[in-house]
Amino acid sequence: MKLLDGKEVGSALKTKLQEQNKELKKNGIEACLAVILVGEDPASEIYVNNKTKACEEIGIKSILYKLDKNTTQNELLALINTLNYDDSVDGILVQLPLPKHINKDIILQSIDSNKDIDGFHPFNVGCLNLNIQGAFLPCTPAGIIHLLKSYDIKLSGLDAVVIGASNIVGRPMATLLLNEGASVSICHIRTKDLSLYTKNADLIIVAAGCVNLLKEDMVKEGVIVVDVGINRLDNGKITGDVDFENVSKKASFISPVPGGVGPMTIAMLLSNTIKSARNRLKTDF
Ligand code: GUN
Repeated sequence: MKLLDGKEVGSALKTKLQEQNKELKKNGIEACLAVILVGEDPASEIYVNNKTKACEEIGIKSILYKLDKNTTQNELLALINTLNYDDSVDGILVQLPLPKHINKDIILQSIDSNKDIDGFHPFNVGCLNLNIQGAFLPCTPAGIIHLLKSYDIKLSGLDAVVIGASNIVGRPMATLLLNEGASVSICHIRTKDLSLYTKNADLIIVAAGCVNLLKEDMVKEGVIVVDVGINRLDNGKITGDVDFENVSKKASFISPVPGGVGPMTIAMLLSNTIKSARNRLKTDF
């Protein structure tokens, strides 16, 4: 069994991005990410702080907008509009989930698709689905593909199963794998018999938010397993969706939690921000 070490691979990617950022600075460009957090969700606060800290680490400027939980949809739209027209801002990230009185679809559609470093705007989602290159890809699925390729895992022709059908992970993950030439099944909360799919899978991506969802008797020998879950146990420890101890006995590759997918998501966010800033070079005359 080999560990899919997101900490190590993410760190190598960050070093490369730091170099690219230095090149941008030589060209007078200061890459800048605007992060918007509405309300006080404790998990979101941690995620957002991790994102801005990672920017700092490689010299990307980040601006954090912490908005009151009672911020109106129109007030949020007004801020996004200002950032859309601000040429010094390369990326706009609105942390999800948003409070219930705000329609997330309207908000995500209001972000300039050229600054949509989360890859959530329908234009970028459409490009992904049409397999059009150059668009922004959602950070977690793109990070997983990068992680797998870093271990020379060939995706073409694999039988892949994605567990979870969210817009943030499951759906874009399945599409990316399809674009890489895998045969993909998407399982979700209504799937009658999960084992039917997982037992035959060469590659399983688990993004369900459910402790111990994937167990040893559900997988075949040599399977590749990527665990996207982040679950906090009563003892305060963080664990994934996979029974790591037992599934790892059968897996050829498996990602740990923490230290697997999480650092890759952050690294891809930085990568998308640098990519957006580099686009400034193409448009500057
Ligand atoms: N909430 C959970 N994951 C994400 C993410 O990747 N981006 C944003 N904006 N919000 C999230």
